[in-house]
Amino acid sequence: MAANKSVLVLPGDGIGPEVMEQVRRVMGWFEAKEAVRFEVEEAPVGGACYDAHGVSIQEETMEKALTLDAVLFGAVGGPKWDNVPREHRPEAGLLRLRKDLDLFANLRPAVVMDAMVDASTLKPEVVKGLDIMILRELTSGVYFGLPKGEQTLEDGTVRVVDTQAYTKDEIVRICRVAFELARKRSNKVHCAEKSNVMETGVFWRQVSAEVAKEYPDVEFHHILADNCAMQLIRNPHQFDVIVTDNLFGDILSDEAAMMTGSLGMLPSASLGAPDPVTGARKAMYEPVHGSAPDIAGQGKANPIAMLLSFGMMLRYSYDLGREADLVEQAAQNVLNEGFRTADIMQDGCTPVSTEEMGNHLLAELDRITA
Ligand code: IPM
Ligand code: MG
Repeated sequence: MAANKSVLVLPGDGIGPEVMEQVRRVMGWFEAKEAVRFEVEEAPVGGACYDAHGVSIQEETMEKALTLDAVLFGAVGGPKWDNVPREHRPEAGLLRLRKDLDLFANLRPAVVMDAMVDASTLKPEVVKGLDIMILRELTSGVYFGLPKGEQTLEDGTVRVVDTQAYTKDEIVRICRVAFELARKRSNKVHCAEKSNVMETGVFWRQVSAEVAKEYPDVEFHHILADNCAMQLIRNPHQFDVIVTDNLFGDILSDEAAMMTGSLGMLPSASLGAPDPVTGARKAMYEPVHGSAPDIAGQGKANPIAMLLSFGMMLRYSYDLGREADLVEQAAQNVLNEGFRTADIMQDGCTPVSTEEMGNHLLAELDRITA
């Protein structure tokens, strides 16, 4: 039995708890196989936490997030909390986790599995074999820049401000992650910014070029973020790693996700800096999709993005590469066999519910390890 691995499970709102339930079953499978023992702590977050405790995340939950090996996050938000003050909105809990754990590197891999080629709204020849990594800066930029909020000018005019700001160190550290990742992939980095309009864009362009000099073996390109959005649709195969700021990364990763057929397929890992002594890093794993309140509670949600996020946790936080491979293989096989949740339904395939998808994933894990 491998050493105990602690994890803070935060299912959240909407479809979050439904997809997390399937991952809990897969965790149970690994434990039954005596492959890993998970020490699970669970807590509410987002709207669910607001309803129960009047805040989007509790202090005791933050403490656990800071001490346990990893955080596994479902999804937060929904129309129910639209009028809650911003500091208590469901999203605030998520943003606080990212910020307080200093999870600056958000890895959003968009991989098109063969079985999914026809599920994409793009032509099969455009997306076939696609494997790109959107690397999003996650703890700075316009999400966190100050001042933020409403101001009243002297003449009584109301205006609302968000601030986009980056320090050099913030850009350097995310760019280094991009180049390190590229070396293990196809050795190419694009840095997306708006240096034609934004001062922070000019800075991103300068600093990324400086960092690129440390990695002369890696092919490097600057690209304007709007052009990047267009090129992703036109010819995504030109990309390997795309590094970008918090807001552009949010947008480009939704776009990249759709190439894979559905937002319900895309996992993510948010990593902090490695500890200089132990090498361990804070980490949170979450699907790129949101809480999908329109389909919540109906058993329709696709658990694969959540499951693949769990797979990333096994790989990046627990160094369990073989187990992570098993998770990915099981997902791929189930899709090859034609089982589909509604979001990825295709002609000739078998429609399944969230739980049935979980059943097939477990059966597949049994089969491939028999
Ligand atoms: C994401 C989400 C979040 C974000 C929301 C839920 C705050 O869209 O993780 O991409 O904007 O970062
Ligand atoms: Mg988003």
